Amino acid sequence: MSRVAYVTGHYVPHREAAVHIEDRGFQFADGVYEVIAVKGGHLIDAERHLARLHRSLGELRLTSPMADAALRVVLGEVIRRNAVDTGIVYLQITRGTAPRDHAFPKAATPTLVVTSRRARPSDPRVARDGVAVVTIPDIRWQRCDIKSVSLIANVLGKQAARESGAFEAWQVDSDGRITEGTSTNAWIITRDGEVVTHAADHAILNGVTRLALLDVVRREGCRLVERRFTVDEAKAAREAFLTSTTADLLPVVSIDGAPIGNGRPGLLTERLRAAYLAHIAAE
Ligand code: PDD
Repeated sequence: MSRVAYVTGHYVPHREAAVHIEDRGFQFADGVYEVIAVKGGHLIDAERHLARLHRSLGELRLTSPMADAALRVVLGEVIRRNAVDTGIVYLQITRGTAPRDHAFPKAATPTLVVTSRRARPSDPRVARDGVAVVTIPDIRWQRCDIKSVSLIANVLGKQAARESGAFEAWQVDSDGRITEGTSTNAWIITRDGEVVTHAADHAILNGVTRLALLDVVRREGCRLVERRFTVDEAKAAREAFLTSTTADLLPVVSIDGAPIGNGRPGLLTERLRAAYLAHIAAE
């Protein structure tokens, strides 16, 4: 079956899908995106993704090319045409095509691109054994709360992780505090059982998985603190894990080669992961 993409009003074969060379997304990374999980052909946590999309658009003074109801129809149609049962749908909105000039164009129609693909079946060993992370300096701009397509620092960070054999790189600010991963949020569980993650300020992307997990953590009756934590604190933590739409919740078993706890996924982490997967199933 051949894949189909949506590009500003048209469903087109994926291999022919294209935007103009002067699209501002291509030239200036002047756009925003969302990655939404699809399970059983349905969007997971769609409300929160659309709320964050509107926030990102608003912060960059971009306009949505269509109302949410219409956008949901397009998302559903791309999922359907690609016969995606379990996977992701990707949407990107840019400021449109205009002669290259940094300032906003006077009149440009926003570009909307939607693609969807099946997820490769995730290897159960990854969740069972946990993943390694390395730390790197956070060299990003000061508005990481906006889900901008300007991802070069994240790209370099992920590549650094891959080259050192790690799953993810946790970015560290100038005060020695971990902000988040390159495409995931970072969490630790302290020795006295407190679940800790960075507060949703300008330094991190407020993950939809993060938000859903905050609810799970509260429901499970765990102590929760949204605050910054240092690399040393993370390395001394009892447990650690990461979250995102594509990774769900994965235990972190080492940071910069130093084992976390006994070097195996933590018990509370496994409980939270099971509760999070139950939340997805209920959606
Ligand atoms: N990344 N932090 C960053 C920098 C991210 O790019 C992401 C998501 C997250 C987790 O957000 P969520 O739980 O809403 O997926 C945190 C997506 C998956 C990506 O770029 O592919």
